[in-house]
Amino acid sequence: MIPTIFFIFSLLSLSHASLVVDFCVADYTAPNGPTGYSCKSPKDVTVDDFVFHGLNSSGTLNIFNSSVGFAFDSQFPGLNGLGITIGRLDFGVGGVIPLHTHPRASEQIVVIEGTILAGFVSTDNVDNVAYIKTLNKGDVMVFPQGLLHFQINVGDSNALAFVALGSSNPGIQTFDLALFKSDISTSIITATTLLDATIVNKLKGVFGGSGLNYVVDHESARNMQY
Ligand SMILES: *[C@@H]1O[C@H](CO)[C@@H](O)[C@H](O)[C@H]1NC(C)=O
Ligand SMILES: *[C@@H]1O[C@H](CO)[C@@H](O)[C@H](O)[C@H]1NC(C)=O
Repeated sequence: MIPTIFFIFSLLSLSHASLVVDFCVADYTAPNGPTGYSCKSPKDVTVDDFVFHGLNSSGTLNIFNSSVGFAFDSQFPGLNGLGITIGRLDFGVGGVIPLHTHPRASEQIVVIEGTILAGFVSTDNVDNVAYIKTLNKGDVMVFPQGLLHFQINVGDSNALAFVALGSSNPGIQTFDLALFKSDISTSIITATTLLDATIVNKLKGVFGGSGLNYVVDHESARNMQY
């Protein structure tokens, strides 16, 4: 029994440490799996598989006056299986990266330009401790795996930062999008957050969520088919 459990655990914990090849450049013609993409044949690998140009400029600023670019294994074939990735955060004046988590990786931010207020919230359900700090050019902060975190440009000019994450596919779950861009109905959101339905529907309009409905009393909500 114990060896079986150990064997399963070993499979689950496959990581770069267990690679028996120098690299495993993603083969996008095969499906992605729980440990990443299959490897492209080394004879088809070129230096360009290990170079990524996609972070050389800012994307278009979004509704939060920010732009996020990532080099995950789905965009950057050379980092498949290596357990790392990098991202670029651009902030207009007042720009915000809203509360979000990366379920599969811790993150480090380094500020290149500007002044950024950054923080995360611990899983301490009693005190919900928040760790928040103003970061200047060259400063580094770490956000532990899975914890909700945010960044805000609090300077009076644009800001730029890069983030490094400990997975080649860290995943991103943004609080606002999970609530207001998903299929979760207004009645479920009001029931689970105590937010007012008017606010929920307004935010669903902003983020493009579906499941719009105006059920506000919990009696009706309980009787609904979700
Ligand atoms: C970014 O990289 C792309 C692809 O190589 C290139 O076409 C573009 O000119 C580069 N942009 C900048 C600002 O260097
Ligand atoms: C967004 O950022 C741009 C560029 O810094 C700035 O000109 C603009 O005023 C900002 N928008 C808002 C709503 O703050």
